[in-house]
Amino acid sequence: SESGFLLAIESSCDETAAAVIDRQRRVLSNVVASQFELHTRFGGVVPEMASRAHVQNILPVIDEAIRQAGIRLTDLTAIAVATTPGLVGSLLIGLTAAKTLAWSLGVPLVAIDHLQAHIYACQLALWSQSGQAAGQKGQAESIYPCVGMVVSGGHSNLYACASPVDFELLGATTDDAAGEAFDKVAKVLDLGFPGGPAIEKFAKAGRADAFAFPRTFIHEDRLDFSFSGLKTAVLYAAHGIQGAKVQPPPLDDARRADLAASFQAAVVDVLVAKAVQALKKTRYSSLCVGGGVAANQAFREKLEQVAKKRGFRLHVAPRELCTDNAAMGGLGWELVEKGRLAPLDLDVSPGLIR
Ligand code: KG4
Ligand code: ZN
Repeated sequence: SESGFLLAIESSCDETAAAVIDRQRRVLSNVVASQFELHTRFGGVVPEMASRAHVQNILPVIDEAIRQAGIRLTDLTAIAVATTPGLVGSLLIGLTAAKTLAWSLGVPLVAIDHLQAHIYACQLALWSQSGQAAGQKGQAESIYPCVGMVVSGGHSNLYACASPVDFELLGATTDDAAGEAFDKVAKVLDLGFPGGPAIEKFAKAGRADAFAFPRTFIHEDRLDFSFSGLKTAVLYAAHGIQGAKVQPPPLDDARRADLAASFQAAVVDVLVAKAVQALKKTRYSSLCVGGGVAANQAFREKLEQVAKKRGFRLHVAPRELCTDNAAMGGLGWELVEKGRLAPLDLDVSPGLIR
């Protein structure tokens, strides 16, 4: 049938989110309760506290998503929930809510890969911009097949995405994720949490070539990332090395700006280079980028430059769908339509699915 309402639930990390997406993939509501203030004084997400906040937030957030969509719970056609990857305690809260609703309403349950949902955000945005509903979708409106890139606080992953639900992991970070590096470097420079937006702001006033920071693996024939060496290089440049004869000058705002700009340039260079390598390897002609770091303006601009120069199609998730949300769980419709339903004894998988 052509109508229907999907409730998507997302609780993989520190945002409690719910959204209603209709069968035409229109986002009718998109509610996110951020735990930002809860974790900010610890400089990062505290898993135990995140779980407890999810317990408090999940029902009000679902209620609000249903209310804003202008429907009733009994109008729902299916429930989608992110089950991988993420913090185990956080994932379990969303899954329990989703199972309870699916069972009590007698509607199907589907399990979402949170990282594929980040990529699917590009698809939702494309349909929404073109004014075309998924029901009438033609080849031209699909972002698939594509190289999918997810750059967030927890992940820097490259995928070969044959379809929204068929994918293969091409590469991942061997240590810190890109967003994690932004957060840690922001801490080193005393810029606060979360670090991405703070670094971006400071970088605007700095010189990207002030420091020659490492671009790990950039010329290597592998699609993995490593950002911990870069983080350490910024630490030493900012605060010096204990016991060294020559120490850096005091960390004033001008120096902070140069460090931020040079760090950001190093991350962007590596991310863009690996995305291009993945396009070559897969022979796909479309690149789709999502996750919190994709909100970064310098990254978006460099991607656009390179896409123009090399002639591949580029889709970057709109900023409001880059950071964690449940609207991107509209991906659940693809599973519903393919009949890939989840059983009620479904479990979470905190680790990465390859
Ligand atoms: O996707 P996301 O909201 O949550 C995870 O699934 O991790 O990503 C959050 C990450 C944080 O590390 C944050 O510092 C980074 O995305 N981030 C940014 C920007 N906005 C958020 N990094 C660079 N530039 C930004 N403008
Ligand atoms: Zn995420």
